Amino acid sequence: MFADPTVIAEYQKLVAEIRQHDDAYYQEDAPKISDADYDTLRRRLEEIEIQHPELVSKDSPSQKVGANPSKGFKTVQHAVPMLSLGNAFEDDDVADFLNRIRNFLKLPESVEIEIAAEPKIDGLSCSLRYQNGKLIQAATRGDGVTGEDITANVMKIGDIPKEISGDVPEFLEVRGEIYMRRDEFVKLNEEQERNGGKIFANPRNAAAGSVRQLNPEVSAARPLRFFGYALGEVSKPIAQTQDGIRQELKSWGFAQAEPQALCRTADEVLEYYRRIEAQRPDLPYDIDGVVYKVDRIDYQERLGFVARAPRWAIAHKFPAEKAVTILHKISIQVGRTGALTPVAELEPITVGGVVVSRATLHNEDEIERKDVRVGDHVIVQRAGDVIPQIVSVVMEKRLENSEPFVFPHECPICHSHAVREEGEVVWRCSGGLICPAQAVERLRHFVSRLAFDIEGLGAKIIEEFYEEGLVKTPADIFTLEARDKGSLTPIRKREGWGDLSAKNLFESIDRRRTISLPRFIYALGIRQIGEATAKRLAEAYLTFDAFYQAMVEAANQESESYQQLLNVQDVGAGVATDVVAFFAEDHNRDALDDLLAQIQVQAFVPVKIKDTPVSGKTVVFTGTLVTMSRPEAKARAESLGAKVAGSVSAKTNFVIAGEDAGSKLTKAKDLGVRVLSEQEWAELIAGY
Ligand code: IVH
Repeated sequence: MFADPTVIAEYQKLVAEIRQHDDAYYQEDAPKISDADYDTLRRRLEEIEIQHPELVSKDSPSQKVGANPSKGFKTVQHAVPMLSLGNAFEDDDVADFLNRIRNFLKLPESVEIEIAAEPKIDGLSCSLRYQNGKLIQAATRGDGVTGEDITANVMKIGDIPKEISGDVPEFLEVRGEIYMRRDEFVKLNEEQERNGGKIFANPRNAAAGSVRQLNPEVSAARPLRFFGYALGEVSKPIAQTQDGIRQELKSWGFAQAEPQALCRTADEVLEYYRRIEAQRPDLPYDIDGVVYKVDRIDYQERLGFVARAPRWAIAHKFPAEKAVTILHKISIQVGRTGALTPVAELEPITVGGVVVSRATLHNEDEIERKDVRVGDHVIVQRAGDVIPQIVSVVMEKRLENSEPFVFPHECPICHSHAVREEGEVVWRCSGGLICPAQAVERLRHFVSRLAFDIEGLGAKIIEEFYEEGLVKTPADIFTLEARDKGSLTPIRKREGWGDLSAKNLFESIDRRRTISLPRFIYALGIRQIGEATAKRLAEAYLTFDAFYQAMVEAANQESESYQQLLNVQDVGAGVATDVVAFFAEDHNRDALDDLLAQIQVQAFVPVKIKDTPVSGKTVVFTGTLVTMSRPEAKARAESLGAKVAGSVSAKTNFVIAGEDAGSKLTKAKDLGVRVLSEQEWAELIAGY
């Protein structure tokens, strides 16, 4: 259904109006209308966008998720998502990576796939946007889609060109890593110590802490540096290879992580890895591995992405660093869904530059398998940002009177009995709502980075506020300021707080009164609903009201709503049971209703699907394809908006029959489904 001209006119007027109000509010700090009136405008805009996704442009206010007041960092919507990398640890993982690429691209062994290799710097990623050669914006990665605007701070980093000249595209995003050199980090910590400032655990933390300073003068005084290693959005291609991009970046003044190499075979790749591993202590900056990237950009484009990582690149990590220390105690932590996790309390020890005093022991079976006992000397390992782990016990040093650990069968916090269901490794507290540990964990999850992302409301504070009855439910967070106003013991008077920190906290809570649907669903903390599934649900239901209602109806497994839920990608019977169970609980619905009275959940605006001859169509590939591998054919069809099915039915729109096609082809003919040869398929989608 296409929008009629009156709707288009109304939409355009709304966009202009909302932008003006955004500016008045965010830039000038002088709103011209009430929040409620503003919300009405936003809601109408969203309604139109849901009905007419074809109208949504990239600069619609709806695409700018929750821009923050200029007091904190503003948010930046990345034009091209900032991805992470898959990891390889063993040589075999690297071989698998190279084989996957070869198979995907369907290249014979005789064709070499060149790999650009370079060190993986341990810093924080940053996207720099240049317009006509001028640096106009810098953003952190954030959750990959929305980052923080750190332009003011980045302008002070000497290593980053503010202006570039030569054959520069009209707009260009340079991606790279902000980091600190080891020697400069040591000097900074010495200075901090003299001045009574914060001591940083490692160069990475120091770099991150320095970039996220609200006062650019503070970050200007910090020895920050930058390496450029990839591109984001560009108005025209700058090179045909990764190596070409590096050279171009270098010529524009972007430092590069050295030493780099162009490798032709798996052996050359591994040789590079070992060479860098040996040089690691001598490099002036911390690295945690190396990165391999397919050199040819046309290959990169064909390979595309899976979830959050490109198929054409991988990080080959150095082995985790290890150390031996003493295990003093095994304590039990209670998670948000009641899972009891054993935690090793250790004699503090430095592992890879970070002091470790706790490590995970995973579960009962793991403790038994490794036979870990209190008093043991244990080998602790830490890899990157992963939680430290206990690898094994130094048996020679075991005390004579040591005894095997007995896993508790009750919750250490609320003392409800714990259950370990058949086939599960996890013991769970059965206390549900009465268990304060679960409640605190749920709140922590609720405010965490990928959920409501409330700055200044860290784990410790949540726990304190919960214990004092200040915040018992999510809705309480949003009524905190109002209640604080009449309080005899206001937050600003608490130990460790002041007028400014209290004000900042209320402001960061206020900034999150509007939230996107995927974040909101994730924030609810329903078992098995991670970030990816939350997004799938948002895509399927578009508004929270629709989702809520459908989930209540889905309690009846005979209902259409239940079937519809099972049709959502990534949702199987197990996940469906957990979601439905959540909405079936009266207290969850009560808590939700209270919360919804305080906040706005934005409707999900689907990304406009490209209009192609195959969008919305169901296609089936069969037989041997000659020009493409199956995975590439599937990825390409999906990127053009088609659904790729495994079997032929009356609902199939096209069957693409390669060589030696068999029963699927016969079935397609029987059902009268349109059959295309590989060549015809290629012609149909050419140019999209
Ligand atoms: S390439 C499409 N190259 O590692 C992804 N990343 O664990 C482009 N990183 O988010 C990334 N050094 O922040 C690339 N030489 C390098 C890197 C590098 C560090 C970071 C980057 C990325 C993270 C993934």
